[in-house]
Amino acid sequence: MKREHLLWLLAITAGAAPVMQFGQGDDFDGLRFGVDGTFNITIFEDLHFGEPEGVSQYGPSGDNKTTKIISSILDNAPPSFAVLNGDLLSCEYITPDRVNATIDQLLEPFKTRNVPWGSTYGPHDMTSTCSTRAMAAYEQKTGGQLAWTQDMVQGEYEETGTSNYYVPIYGSTRGGNPNLVMLLWFFDSRGGKAFGKTSADGIDVQLEDWVGQKVVDWFNLEKMAMAQQFKRVIPSVAFVHTPVYAMKNSTQRIDPNTSPGINEEAVVYQGMACESGSKTCHGNERAASSFMQALGSTQGLMAVFSGHSHGNDWCMSWTVDDNVGGENDIPLCFGRWTGYGGYGTWARGARQIVLRENTKEIDTWITLEDGNISGHVMLNATFGTDEYSAVDVTKSPPLPPHT
Ligand SMILES: *[C@@H]1O[C@H](CO)[C@@H](O)[C@H](O)[C@H]1NC(C)=O
Ligand SMILES: *[C@@H]1O[C@H](CO)[C@@H](O)[C@H](O)[C@H]1NC(C)=O
Ligand SMILES: *[C@@H]1O[C@H](CO)[C@@H](O)[C@H](O)[C@H]1NC(C)=O
Ligand SMILES: *[C@@H]1O[C@H](CO)[C@@H](O)[C@H](O)[C@H]1NC(C)=O
Ligand SMILES: *[C@@H]1O[C@H](CO)[C@@H](O)[C@H](O)[C@H]1NC(C)=O
Ligand SMILES: *[C@@H]1O[C@H](CO)[C@@H](O)[C@H](O)[C@H]1NC(C)=O
Repeated sequence: MKREHLLWLLAITAGAAPVMQFGQGDDFDGLRFGVDGTFNITIFEDLHFGEPEGVSQYGPSGDNKTTKIISSILDNAPPSFAVLNGDLLSCEYITPDRVNATIDQLLEPFKTRNVPWGSTYGPHDMTSTCSTRAMAAYEQKTGGQLAWTQDMVQGEYEETGTSNYYVPIYGSTRGGNPNLVMLLWFFDSRGGKAFGKTSADGIDVQLEDWVGQKVVDWFNLEKMAMAQQFKRVIPSVAFVHTPVYAMKNSTQRIDPNTSPGINEEAVVYQGMACESGSKTCHGNERAASSFMQALGSTQGLMAVFSGHSHGNDWCMSWTVDDNVGGENDIPLCFGRWTGYGGYGTWARGARQIVLRENTKEIDTWITLEDGNISGHVMLNATFGTDEYSAVDVTKSPPLPPHT
């Protein structure tokens, strides 16, 4: 190895923190697989709390309906962990003095059931009047041990956003010193507005709509440090609100036999605002593909979960091309949107994922608000070619009557 390369490696790995340690034995307070070797996650996307009358079809009563769905899904199959995968709030409509109360309202079903959660933020969380850094701080304050949302990357708010972190999941063996088995990675795809700023003509300042380069550098650094610390591949899954650039134009190519689910909207992907030549953008789509390269070259990455396009809920298989350097195809999945705020009339629901301690397969499906299940697939080595019966393909049903 060249000396300068070695020095660089030493310098950057010195900057990476060792994987979080937790109290041992009875004091262990990390997350771990159940005794049956499973760890179940429910992903709630696009909750859009806080919309007033006239903005969405339901106005403020929509939030109560959203709470009802979250509660019934949690009661139906209590998960080990919940992911709130972006656009928790429609914060542009929430006055600053009401933001924390609205966060409390949305977290109430998780707190009363003792379900730990981690959030990623989306463009509607990040507005000129709402800072996602304050949101994360409030989640931690009100959620205590249940709140896993963090901000691990040093950087300017506009460059990095907030929700960039990982959560380690330990093995099912009870008692002292459990093994690190899996990692959940969370990324902030930004795309909202600068906090507390408007341009000269009084318009909110649009931010870049991709995972920032500093975050990509941190991710690569952490992966390298973990490889040194553990000397083995640690399987992982990733969550990011806005779909990665690789999902561009996938709507046209989705085969409902191999990727069951609703597919009713063109995918809005990271870097799209820049690509379309929007004047408010400060880069180009190549910046967004830097994150994709970092994902594609992550050994043991089992799947990436996104939201943002409310009218899609399939998983596709991303063939990582040679210049990205990945070894395997990586499943890229939408959730099911959950909120009664936001655009659309599709039935609400949530994506369930079952992680297993000793395999790299993920069992996943969508639970709809009435308890129906759709799009059940196995994210395994043959996902993408496995055919699922047409019975699994639930088209968007009519809206339930407004009550
Ligand atoms: C995860 O869900 C499966 C059913 O889908 C259940 O059998 C298992 O016990 C659950 N695991 C945990 C840790 O709750
Ligand atoms: C939402 O539910 C709460 C608690 O049940 C109630 O106090 C409030 O009036 C409801 N809000 C609307 C807009 O229906
Ligand atoms: C909301 O919570 C954050 C984090 O605790 C805090 O900084 C902020 O002042 C709170 N906002 C209000 C209006 O109390
Ligand atoms: C990809 O999508 C863009 C915008 O939606 C469209 O202009 C372009 O023709 C599409 N390209 C292909 C190869 O489908
Ligand atoms: C749930 O399943 C029932 C019975 O198949 C069906 O009538 C209903 O439309 C489904 N609901 C949704 C939201 O798809
Ligand atoms: C993947 O899962 C599908 C559905 O359960 C199954 O048909 C297929 O054989 C599995 N592939 C592998 C390699 O296990």
